[in-house]
Amino acid sequence: MSKIEINRIIELRGLIHSYNTQYYIHSNSVISDFEFDQLLKELEQLELKHPEINDPNSPTKRVGGDITKSFETVSHKYPMLSLSNSYSKDDIAEFDQRVKKIIDVPYSYICELKYDGVAISITYKDGKLLKAITRGDGTQGEDVTNNVRTISSIPLVLSGDYPKNLEVRGEIMYSKSAFEELNQNRENEGLPLFSNPRNSASGTLKLQDSSIVAKRKLDCFLYSVFFDDGRINKVFEQYKYLGNFGFKTPSISKRYVETVKDVDGIMSFINYWEEKRNNLPFEIDGIVIKINETDIQKEIGNTSKSPRWAIAYKYKAIQVSTVLEEIVYQVGRTGAITPVANLKPVVISGTIVKRASVHNSDQIKKLDLRINDVVFVEKGGEIIPKIIGVNFSERSPSSIAHSFINNCPECNSILVRDDDQAHHYCLNSNLCPPQIKGKLIHFIGRKQLNIDGIGQETIEQLYNEKLIENVADLYSLNKEDLLPIDRMAEKSVDNIINGIQASKSAPFHKVLFGLGIRYVGETVAKKLTSYFKDINHLRNSSFEELCNIDEVGEKIAESLVEYFSLDYNNKIIDELLEQGLQMKSDHSSNLVKSNILENKKIVISGTFENVSREELKSIIETNGGKNVSSVSKATDILIAGDNMGPSKLEKAKEFNISIMKENDFLSLINYNEKSSDSNQYEQGQLF
Ligand code: IVH
Repeated sequence: MSKIEINRIIELRGLIHSYNTQYYIHSNSVISDFEFDQLLKELEQLELKHPEINDPNSPTKRVGGDITKSFETVSHKYPMLSLSNSYSKDDIAEFDQRVKKIIDVPYSYICELKYDGVAISITYKDGKLLKAITRGDGTQGEDVTNNVRTISSIPLVLSGDYPKNLEVRGEIMYSKSAFEELNQNRENEGLPLFSNPRNSASGTLKLQDSSIVAKRKLDCFLYSVFFDDGRINKVFEQYKYLGNFGFKTPSISKRYVETVKDVDGIMSFINYWEEKRNNLPFEIDGIVIKINETDIQKEIGNTSKSPRWAIAYKYKAIQVSTVLEEIVYQVGRTGAITPVANLKPVVISGTIVKRASVHNSDQIKKLDLRINDVVFVEKGGEIIPKIIGVNFSERSPSSIAHSFINNCPECNSILVRDDDQAHHYCLNSNLCPPQIKGKLIHFIGRKQLNIDGIGQETIEQLYNEKLIENVADLYSLNKEDLLPIDRMAEKSVDNIINGIQASKSAPFHKVLFGLGIRYVGETVAKKLTSYFKDINHLRNSSFEELCNIDEVGEKIAESLVEYFSLDYNNKIIDELLEQGLQMKSDHSSNLVKSNILENKKIVISGTFENVSREELKSIIETNGGKNVSSVSKATDILIAGDNMGPSKLEKAKEFNISIMKENDFLSLINYNEKSSDSNQYEQGQLF
């Protein structure tokens, strides 16, 4: 039995690795997510039974879980050099002249994007990932292997004709969308936002808990490889090899990499990306030009700092100077205070800039910002321009140091700042107007109660008219309250009332997330509601019990205990309960059993907002349907979730199969959940 199981473990690891390569490297889903999850679960269970064949490169390690208390320092086999930079096209022409003086055989250049992330060296032995080391000082770096193992585009085991020892180098980074998602989640959890993708990628790599890294969607772009078996090629060919081993390589068709024969070719590449770089899905800060032939690279060699066979052309971060007129302070939903600089308006790359972020009091001190200073403002990778320094030569001798405020600019309470926090906070959460409005706006959000008909502006109006002060007040609003308000037509009033009523069927985790408890984002809310199942259990739980829950650390537990210790908050919860909001997570009570799906073959794909895949499957079965894994002519319905495989969608369209969004499907079977307003996909014609 044991032998069979061990063979199955080995088989499953191989299978899952190859499905991962297909999915993450070739964007090709060979099997359904459901089938994939089943295989992974089977492997997890077998591995639990057979710890003797633990493999640090098993696909089950992708989800992380290993904790690195301190990152060990490791020497690089070959130093990690940097590139000499150039900012002008003349420098590039000079580089070409230097090369021509040394080399008298034909050669070509390879032009690549200069990814703006964190350098990493990854070594493989016998086709298995061995170590991932940061650049560090170029000679020694830190061992971040546990964290790098969680990055989907980095293979854990290689395929094809790989050498016994292999080292690849590349840049770990966030795509723009992954970075936005990360910050959106932080905003939802009331945490300060990260300022740019590069710094946050570097911070993420140094997290102790690799399971957090696993959730963060880091990516890796390769740019160097060291073979140990004497293969000498063109760089361009090396990328092809890497592709065969299962690595993600730069796209030729998208022109991420290009071979050119001379300076004119280099200039054309530089000019192309100078114009188009804003459209890339990730940040670059320039172009890298390398000699394509690795034997010629060797001949030209390196200086102690950088190779002589390569040069970077850096795009200029656009910088201007202007006057700092004022520093104002914004109060966020959780009471975090953010200083914002009001500037004398100035044009940066075609847009007028009037404000810049200054992050926190340390930043004001570090830059020594004073009102009326002439400051340098830069618009780089960040969405909001930032102040990078002061022109001290223009500082007025009478200027005085700026001191951070002591009291909340909105409600005057004393601000506090804990030792481990970068931000000051106003703790008057239930009486401070921007915090009250922030909580209300958070509550109605799409991922929370998703209340149709109400937006930020309506919340402001309702609050200013003193009709609402907390989220429970929304549920006692009636038509008569709303009609007298400015610009409220009867139809908008009906929409608001209907939207509020419909939100009563939102599942428990959304209500909990909507309450806006500090550090309780969407994921934590789901964890809590699946553990506690009932708000009363949750609010009576102890700090210790909370700490025992998967993914709930001391910070979150402390925040929950504090929230539920306040009468004001408990009163809101009592009122929400009285109004009939979902404060239990027993989904079976929501199921309406029927034969409505009798004999229907239904495929589930992607991820879902209101129900898990398991729940969806059981809903299909309790209503007479059959869950099948792949789309064929015989399929009746495809339930399309977020991030679903494109091939399934295409097939479903080809076979004219009814494609339904989650909420449309749930309302079809009378699942007690609000119907979706989105019509991104075609509606089902089936019934
Ligand atoms: S080649 C110097 N190619 O830029 C050794 N580097 O400023 C050869 N980088 O340390 C590096 N994109 O972290 C190379 N396409 C690319 C790159 C790239 C980003 C980074 C890399 C390097 C730094 C030098």
